[in-house]
Amino acid sequence: MEDWRPRRRRSLLGARGSSSLQAASCPAVNGGVAIFFLAAAVAGALVCASWMSAGAMVPWITMVASPERTPILSRLAVSGTVTNRPPAAAPAPAPAPAPGASAGETPSSSCPAYFRWIHEDLRPWRVTGITREAVDGAHRYGPKFRVTVVAGRLYVTRYGRCFQTRDAFTQWGVLQLLRRYPGRVPDLDLMFDCQDLPVVSAGNHLGRASSPPPPPLFGYCGSESTLDIAFPDWSFWGWPELNIKPWEALRGEIDEGNAAVNWTSRAPYAYWKGNPTVGADRRNLLRCNASGDRDWNARIYAQDWKKEVQQGFRESDLAKQCTHRYKIYIEGRGWSVSEKYILACDSVALMVRPSYHDFFSRGLMPLQHYWPIRGGRAMCRSIKVAVEWGDAHTDKAQEIIGNASKFIRDELTMDRVYDYMFHLVREYAGLLKYTPTVPDRAVEVTVESMPRGRQGRERQFMVDTTVDGSGSGGPCPCELPPPFSSEELETLRTRNADAVRQVEMWEKP
Ligand SMILES: *[C@@H]1O[C@H](CO)[C@@H](O)[C@H](O)[C@H]1NC(C)=O
Ligand SMILES: *[C@@H]1O[C@H](CO)[C@@H](O)[C@H](O)[C@H]1NC(C)=O
Ligand SMILES: *[C@@H]1O[C@H](CO)[C@@H](O)[C@H](O)[C@H]1NC(C)=O
Repeated sequence: MEDWRPRRRRSLLGARGSSSLQAASCPAVNGGVAIFFLAAAVAGALVCASWMSAGAMVPWITMVASPERTPILSRLAVSGTVTNRPPAAAPAPAPAPAPGASAGETPSSSCPAYFRWIHEDLRPWRVTGITREAVDGAHRYGPKFRVTVVAGRLYVTRYGRCFQTRDAFTQWGVLQLLRRYPGRVPDLDLMFDCQDLPVVSAGNHLGRASSPPPPPLFGYCGSESTLDIAFPDWSFWGWPELNIKPWEALRGEIDEGNAAVNWTSRAPYAYWKGNPTVGADRRNLLRCNASGDRDWNARIYAQDWKKEVQQGFRESDLAKQCTHRYKIYIEGRGWSVSEKYILACDSVALMVRPSYHDFFSRGLMPLQHYWPIRGGRAMCRSIKVAVEWGDAHTDKAQEIIGNASKFIRDELTMDRVYDYMFHLVREYAGLLKYTPTVPDRAVEVTVESMPRGRQGRERQFMVDTTVDGSGSGGPCPCELPPPFSSEELETLRTRNADAVRQVEMWEKP
């Protein structure tokens, strides 16, 4: 069993430390990233309090560029343990070649650029490493379960309830990761939260250079002002309660629907359907629905999930909702799982000022993959202008659609989702300063035990997403790109802000 044990090298050498886990058949994952960590550690910080003012009428861009934040930024940058994140949904540049990569290396072996955010999400522990005390410290944020992997087996300690089957499908995803890369997932010990909002406030942890590192806590989304580590959400393996199929299958169905109606023959409106009762901005969105006297070019529908459950999901088939030229994405309580389904629609995604990011959305860029929409009371006018612009510039609109489709088709396959999990937990494990052991209360979870006693869609989705675990000759993970340099982060931030500002100029009457 010696092969299963990751070598525990500390701090800056974390990534290199576990490269001994590579199976002989796969090329070594880049190990020379330490220099880049150092370079990026001096990057200027941008901690935006956007999520705290989710209901405020402040446009996203002013928060990004607000000059009075500068003192806070410099103070945080000095502490050296801050996460340097550009605004939510910031773009990522083309992946830099891995250090030492030969010119002849095929580009397809490099992971998508958004994987670089793995380094940013783990930055608070890059220098100190992660102690058992730090992990246990997450208890104060009420994690719902603990994932411990020892020698390729998954042990779960339950601390609380998750909504519906979020926890089961998240753990199912981890089990599939272990099957996909047998012998290559290091021993792990991590805390998981399954709520909608990130909870580890950066302000509580990064104020002084002497502050102990924050407790690492995994969840489904993050924000500028929190330190929660973004992990793929349960819906990639399916959401049985809402009849939302596993991602790969649903994406195929959405594609079929797309092929049936080309863009020009779609309804020339911005469409949204969802639960309007969560999140202040969703109530603002309702005001944009066409009424007797005003037409904002938006068609807004409330989804009554209770009725859908009772009536067999007749009105909620996501594959049949790609019939408009524009689709609105708006956050709910936190980020919304609807994002990937909207981007897959071959419609122009109109994204209302996001405050949160999931693991992939920081790879999306305004005007390149989506059209940015203001939040608050300026929203309706912003939507109206977006639709008018798209109808007047159909080539450009379709180019944005093409870029979003490409992202969804090439960079958000299940292969890449597993690779993201793989690299994230591997980098995390490289920072652990202790050898994970199975907690007393933990229960082993296996691919056999998990579906036991489950029926219907729950069981079916697990069966449908079981990966081939034969092991030998399996797939190789893509190669993790290096961290951002401070210049790259700055360029991203500027490019993002410029695009949003540009759109705001166009919105001026
Ligand atoms: C889109 O579909 C309509 C009606 O089916 C057709 O007239 C039009 O030529 C199609 N446009 C493109 C670009 O394929
Ligand atoms: C928006 O307007 C349409 C058409 O008038 C209507 O069918 C729909 O129910 C409205 N949406 C909401 C959320 O009221
Ligand atoms: C689409 O993506 C390509 C390649 O990343 C880029 O050059 C182009 O500008 C993008 N299109 C738009 C409308 O941004």
